[in-house]
Amino acid sequence: MTTTPDEAPGRHRRATAVTYRAGTDGDLDACAAIWKAAIDDYQVRLGQPPMPADLAPLRRLLIHVLTTDPTRFWVALAADDRDASGVAGFSCATVREGLWFLAMLFVRPDLQGGGVGAALMDRAQAGRSPAGGTSSVPGPDDPLDSGIHTWGMCTDAAQPISNALYARRGMVPRVPVWRVFGEVRRWSGLPELPSTLEVQPFEAIAGAGPDGHRRLAEIVDGLDRELIGAAHPMDHAWLRREGRSGFLVGEPGRVAERPLGYAYGSTGGRLGPVAAVDPALHPALLGVAVRRTPILGAMAAWVPGTADRATRALLDAGLRLDGFPALVCWSHADHPFDRYLPISLAIV
Ligand SMILES: CC(C)(COP(=O)(O)OP(=O)(O)OC[C@H]1O[C@@H](n2cnc3c(N)ncnc32)[C@H](O)[C@@H]1OP(=O)(O)O)[C@@H](O)C(=O)NCCC(=O)NCCS
Repeated sequence: MTTTPDEAPGRHRRATAVTYRAGTDGDLDACAAIWKAAIDDYQVRLGQPPMPADLAPLRRLLIHVLTTDPTRFWVALAADDRDASGVAGFSCATVREGLWFLAMLFVRPDLQGGGVGAALMDRAQAGRSPAGGTSSVPGPDDPLDSGIHTWGMCTDAAQPISNALYARRGMVPRVPVWRVFGEVRRWSGLPELPSTLEVQPFEAIAGAGPDGHRRLAEIVDGLDRELIGAAHPMDHAWLRREGRSGFLVGEPGRVAERPLGYAYGSTGGRLGPVAAVDPALHPALLGVAVRRTPILGAMAAWVPGTADRATRALLDAGLRLDGFPALVCWSHADHPFDRYLPISLAIV
């Protein structure tokens, strides 16, 4: 398919033919560069610092998304000479047990506003090139036997274009998600686990006999299905590869039988995801993650505003709200983000 973005003053000097194909490993460096160019293009104008030059962590994330859902990774190719790769934009999403989540959608700044983002979004929703135009693209209003029950993503609150694009497709901005960042200055904000609860590191459960890994996966998958409506073991495997450590909390002596939540920490400072059947457990879960993983420097977590106990606990501990918030866009009014702190803005 070829689209020709309209001329727009100050944006397009000339019309550019754009085609679309499935993304591959070979596109990932170009995608990472477009991610940085597209964000810097508007954030620097808003007085925000540019994104980091080290794109290696982003590349690892893109490999994970491409590997676990290759049919929803798409690139737009522009027939101009701006970039040797030809890649002018990309979209990628994951489906985990019927939960569709947009990982990324970015278009080269000079080609924005010409329909490229919408065409990439169609493909990430459909998992293929839509044969019959937009009427064959599944979405919240018309699932079209896609097996998808929930559609969502996180957006930047400072980005009206993306928020409008998703809202018109039924994925409406509903919840702010703050990046909470800093060092613990008041430990009272992150209480010790009360004696009515017990913690077990994921590693201890996984290492307990030949059945340990399967047992751990069953427990975590069960909590995820209860809380976010989908298990996503491949994302937990990725968290482990990225150096995050998980901790399960439950009733003393019956942690595995009566799990009440889990939390991840990491020595690199990334906190989350955090899942709790009762949001009142969030401060203690965060306390477990921080106390059990000695963090070298500042820590950061993505915290939905509806997870009010978690938000207050981290602020009470002395961390700060950092930058503009993101927004969770979700296809239903009933979302899980009072009980669940996501992995990142790209993976639920
Ligand atoms: C968001 C992005 C991917 C969209 O791609 P794009 O090619 O620019 O978007 P399109 O031209 O396909 O569609 C944009 C739509 O938003 C609409 N729009 C733009 N500004 C809007 C506003 N303030 N309010 C409502 N709608 C708006 C446009 O009118 C257009 O809809 P239409 O085609 O029905 O008129 C691209 O702009 C981008 O990379 N932005 C910077 C990075 C970013 O925010 N990415 C999203 C991360 S979640």
